[in-house]
Amino acid sequence: MGSPPGGSLARTEIITLSSPVSSIIFDTADNNLVIKHWGAHIAIAGSGLQAATTKSVANSGFDQPLPSGVLREHSRGFLGHPTISGHRNGQAWSTYFSLTKIDHSERDLAAHFADASALLKLVLSYSLNEFGILKISAELTNSGTDSYNLEQFTYWLPLPDRASEVMDFTGRWSHERHPQRSSIRYGVTSREIREGRTGHDYTIAQLALAGSTEFAHGEVWGLSVAWSGNSIHHVERLATGDISIGAGELLEPGEIILAPGATHTIPSVIANYSNEGLDGLSHNYYRWLRARPNHPTNIRPRPLTLNVWEAIEFHHDSEKIRAIADVAAEVGVERFVLDDGWFNLRRHDRAGLGDWVVDKSVWPDGLAPIIKYINDKGMEFGLWFEGEMINPDSDLYRAHPEWILHEAGRLPPLWRNQQVLDITHPNAYEHVLRQTDAILSEYNISYIKWDHNRVLVDAGHLGQAAVHNQTAAIYRLFAELKTRHPKLEIESCASGGARIDLGVIDYVDRFWTSDNNDALERQMIQRWTGIVIPPELCGTHIGPRPGNQTRRVTDVSFRAITALFGHAGIEWDITGATAEELIVIKNWISLYKRKRGLLHSGKAIRVDHPDSNSFIYGVVAQDRSEALFAIAARDMSESTFPAMARIPGLDPLRIYRVKVITDAGPGKRMQNSEPGWMQIAEGITMSGMELDNIGLRPPILPPENAILIEITSTE
Ligand code: DGJ
Repeated sequence: MGSPPGGSLARTEIITLSSPVSSIIFDTADNNLVIKHWGAHIAIAGSGLQAATTKSVANSGFDQPLPSGVLREHSRGFLGHPTISGHRNGQAWSTYFSLTKIDHSERDLAAHFADASALLKLVLSYSLNEFGILKISAELTNSGTDSYNLEQFTYWLPLPDRASEVMDFTGRWSHERHPQRSSIRYGVTSREIREGRTGHDYTIAQLALAGSTEFAHGEVWGLSVAWSGNSIHHVERLATGDISIGAGELLEPGEIILAPGATHTIPSVIANYSNEGLDGLSHNYYRWLRARPNHPTNIRPRPLTLNVWEAIEFHHDSEKIRAIADVAAEVGVERFVLDDGWFNLRRHDRAGLGDWVVDKSVWPDGLAPIIKYINDKGMEFGLWFEGEMINPDSDLYRAHPEWILHEAGRLPPLWRNQQVLDITHPNAYEHVLRQTDAILSEYNISYIKWDHNRVLVDAGHLGQAAVHNQTAAIYRLFAELKTRHPKLEIESCASGGARIDLGVIDYVDRFWTSDNNDALERQMIQRWTGIVIPPELCGTHIGPRPGNQTRRVTDVSFRAITALFGHAGIEWDITGATAEELIVIKNWISLYKRKRGLLHSGKAIRVDHPDSNSFIYGVVAQDRSEALFAIAARDMSESTFPAMARIPGLDPLRIYRVKVITDAGPGKRMQNSEPGWMQIAEGITMSGMELDNIGLRPPILPPENAILIEITSTE
């Protein structure tokens, strides 16, 4: 056998892409592309990197050092998880790609590969932005004369040996994004989603950490697939010692078959690195997302939203809805959303999905009168859809029973009495687009909440796995709706927070974070969702009393303070609120309007605190002129006097006025007097240095209570 086929780029070159926070360094040795470093910013380099990182030859090993290239191929001696696997009807099962061309600038690199035996071409693109976010994308072309079956494509990045722990997020309905952290062991730590949507159990980012990393300090490497279908997130540690992190779309057998000459765009991944802890990682994500011209806060402030779902569910009684709207307008609500139940036959969850026409039995004159009523009260109107779904009891199903994602003539088991509409079918897609567009064209609707309440099972189209195409179709549909209705905002909901990811984020303006509005649960869900997603994109509503999902009763001020740190709203029949509660809600809404500029642009801080029963967190303005913090007692403090609350993130040398504010209600206490600083009505002054290193003595709060601290520069 001669030398491996393909390739013309023999030159060895080191290429560095750098942002102020991170660098990625490539080596193009042996017609291969090897990543020598991904992590801290490397500002200056000697000439010894290749030699410094080249391994020796070990006993019982290859006779020469074999660097693992970005494509992790068996043919080059790589024995871990490969980047690409596929075949041509059983042939061409092992690739040997050669690097044929590199284009690069300061922060972008496109590597062109070809495999002259497997007859494939691949362009792998790395794009590092000024905020340290690295986007990796790939396009695979079949240059052969028969079909190529792509089984799996996973992007990988190397991790340094000091990355010793892995953290990811798990969850279920009403309990999304709870962290799990463990040592990186030999083998593969894997998170996979096979439910055809992002999922409650989706990790949102797979993180690798140096062992001591916390919120405020330490190194962390994150990777997320930017995609809302099936997914894979891996961390792999090989017996060689090599550690790496990988992510990609999870493909079902035969899902992607490239016809001769076809090019397939592989869903991208988003990588992020920080040596300033988990908060530093969030800071990078937030800065990147907030710099997008279409980021909602670059267009307008986020309106205080009331959604009627928990208040009325399917009981669409116009009088009741008007009564809620009356109170909503009085307390300062800015957007009023009519949820599930407005369309044909939808008097319960057993019928109607698929028929996006107004149900005349509940809205005899259409939606115009209620929208006018709401608009006249100074509020915008929003409406719920679940366009990817169909109930067997619907006109659409009766007309087109074949428009269901299914396999082999059998139907998937029902879930909430519904099936998944096959919007990869052009006519089904057109039906949803036409009916949704007709409603949006007829009425003054600024916002839609788009739900997705079941998992995809046996999701086939004409005998072929179809999750990939279904996901691409919903992205297309969202984009088309926005083209036709440029001011439209879309909220991504999926039984709460089951479609929150860095793929759909390009098409939507808000996420429904969870169906669980219980404030105690929300403390966790919001904290960890917020690692990746900035608060202005997370719907955070004051829920009812008791909470629908937990039956827990918490004080209105705890619910209000919890809901403040997001895109705030109400999910509660406020016609049943007490006069006292209404005063709290009204003051809280004014506070939200006063502080949303700060909340939706500042740096998020979660304080590393010795007592895990308390969460201390806040937002500091980018210019450090002001901040808003909460101390939330999730349970009894461990000690009689709760541990001092450090307030980091401010300018160490500036003097700030620090005072407790009760705009979100007085809350409850368990003590004979307030701590000293809280007894001084006008607040106290402290330097940023004092706040960070000494902090404030918290009050003795009963479990499930919180206070708010306003911090303003005195200069
Ligand atoms: C699930 C969502 O998460 C809820 O907020 C609500 O919209 C219901 N679906 C309606 O069916």
